[in-house]
Amino acid sequence: MLDTLKRGDEEPVFLCETSALVESGLAVPFEVLYRGEVLNAFAVRFQGQVHGYLNRCVHLPMEMDFQANRFFDGSGRWLICSTHAALYDPATGVCVSGPCGGALVKIPMSEEGGKVYWHTSSAVQTVF
Ligand code: FES
Repeated sequence: MLDTLKRGDEEPVFLCETSALVESGLAVPFEVLYRGEVLNAFAVRFQGQVHGYLNRCVHLPMEMDFQANRFFDGSGRWLICSTHAALYDPATGVCVSGPCGGALVKIPMSEEGGKVYWHTSSAVQTVF
């Protein structure tokens, strides 16, 4: 029943096919309701695993991608905020360099049967 879209804690919500997320490549964006506010989020693949985060820098509450869906730096090792170049660990969302000093809001993800899902929580819900 992974395709079921309904409100509630820890419900999987279909995002994309597995093939849409390539290692250190472009992100797949999605919208979430985060503490009552509609915000953009994104999913990336790093070291084979899919990771999801709110698209909101810890330094200032701004979206991080100047070029749409491009979150990795040139090395493909770090997520970078295009505004002041804060670097985040793609696996954890923790800031490793720059003016961020914290961690991105992580959204649980899963992958099964060639499909990628994000998961709702008490803080993160579907928009509709
Ligand atoms: S807004 Fe992201 S580093 Fe300043």
